[in-house]
Amino acid sequence: MAYSRIEIAPSILASDFSRLGEEIRKVESGGVDVLHVDVMDGHFVPNISIGIPVVESLREATRLPLDVHLMIENPEEYIGEFVRAGANRVLVHQESTVHLDRALAMVREHGAEAGVVINPATPVVMLFEVLDRVDTVLVMSVNPGFGGQKFISGAFAKIRQLAEWRARYNASFRIEVDGGVDLENIGELAQAGANTFVAGTSIFHTPDPAAAARQLRQRATGALSQRA
Ligand code: DX5
Ligand code: ZN
Repeated sequence: MAYSRIEIAPSILASDFSRLGEEIRKVESGGVDVLHVDVMDGHFVPNISIGIPVVESLREATRLPLDVHLMIENPEEYIGEFVRAGANRVLVHQESTVHLDRALAMVREHGAEAGVVINPATPVVMLFEVLDRVDTVLVMSVNPGFGGQKFISGAFAKIRQLAEWRARYNASFRIEVDGGVDLENIGELAQAGANTFVAGTSIFHTPDPAAAARQLRQRATGALSQRA
């Protein structure tokens, strides 16, 4: 059966780090499903963000599943530590390792859900051999490294292709989309087959993040019911 649940995943990269606990309470009250945590090493992407100690603190601060997006070189070296720190889902870039299959297996061996990520320039066919070994496929709709960028519309065709494979091979991976997701595009993304919607700016850079998260969910579920 095709995967159809909608998940809203606020990206804490866009939150106020000096008040991280309060920011989390806000989105929890908006009924979000998962927290998206962007880990950047200044090598795989041209920015440095947060790491293992922050994931440990987040684990103390919330019961929401932590969706840890590794934008780092040598991800295999750190997978165990992120899972021990509290990551429920670990997302590894296809472009970050030549041993993708091994890295994804490591995530599962450590007891977390395994996700694979592709950059805007990477075709979905690069993931074909691992689709039966992942819980999530994350399609980047911006070049990773920064919040607040413009959505790249090539993501739609990738999501449609993944949804087609998922149905054809009776697979059950989630399709996640990250970068520039907002009220304008979330409906069409849901119709294309995406399930998990990462949103930083469109949740935290609003006066009421809880309301923003609820609106995003309504727009996504509304678009699905229109199609049905
Ligand atoms: C970009 C990160 C995203 C980012 C999304 O490298 O992976 O998760 O925080 O932010 P918005 O929603 O502002 O594009
Ligand atoms: Zn991300």
